[in-house]
Amino acid sequence: MNFFQKTPVTRIKLNKEKRGRRNRLVLVSAITSSCVFVDLVNFFHDLIGEVLLSSYYLSDVWKTMRVRDSDLPIEEEWAKFFNPNRTLKLLGLDCRIKDAADFGCGYGTFTIPAAQIISGKIYALDIEPEMVRTVERKAKELSLNNVVAILRDFMSEGSGLKDSSVDFVFLFNILHAETPVVLLKEAYRILKPGGKAGIIHWRYDETIRDGPSMDIRPKPEQCRQWAESVGFHFKKQFDLKPYHYAIIMEK
Ligand SMILES: C[S@@+](CC[C@H](N)C(=O)[O-])C[C@H]1O[C@@H](n2cnc3c(N)ncnc32)[C@H](O)[C@@H]1O
Repeated sequence: MNFFQKTPVTRIKLNKEKRGRRNRLVLVSAITSSCVFVDLVNFFHDLIGEVLLSSYYLSDVWKTMRVRDSDLPIEEEWAKFFNPNRTLKLLGLDCRIKDAADFGCGYGTFTIPAAQIISGKIYALDIEPEMVRTVERKAKELSLNNVVAILRDFMSEGSGLKDSSVDFVFLFNILHAETPVVLLKEAYRILKPGGKAGIIHWRYDETIRDGPSMDIRPKPEQCRQWAESVGFHFKKQFDLKPYHYAIIMEK
């Protein structure tokens, strides 16, 4: 008898081992292939998402409700026109203000200083992904965890914020919009009773060549009238020389 010849018992053992090995192999390959499958599904899901998002931004669809003449010059140029801290204090922003919203935050010229003054959150809305990213980056650099930057078209979708939820709304350099009353109505809706809307705009002076063109640049009386038409009460007007004026309206 061949020493290595298998007896029925060893054959059964070997068969069992073989089956065990095969089962383990089947299990391992099932797990591997389901992981690969999940990875593939995730990959294609992300890919489709990226493609859709890119084509959305590459198309001009997202710009359709963009406020006319609302492109900003480079940040250094824009910063020269303002003294944000002084202006915000003049408008009455202090730590008694809890939450605020900045409609069309741009580079965060006012969002970031405001976040350092108020006691709650500031919601910074803009239609441009680049502006939203800039505000997020600045907030991170300064470890400000009360800045909520939101990519949003507030003209067609509204702000998405709750009724009577904020104490202050910034409408800075934005009321030359095609439909300013839509914007003011939205500001009124989200403000708590007694809450304030701050309006800043370029002076109606044709020697001031920066800012939107004269035919769409609103006069302070016009801004005030639009705001009153949606229910606001006039509180104060300031000169922000040399380029701007500011108005405070109350809900
Ligand atoms: C002239 S900038 C003013 C920026 C900022 N408020 C300031 O005074 O420094 C107007 C900003 O509004 C944004 N904007 C224009 N139309 C918008 C819309 N429909 N929804 C959201 N943001 C919009 C622009 O992308 C731009 O950043």
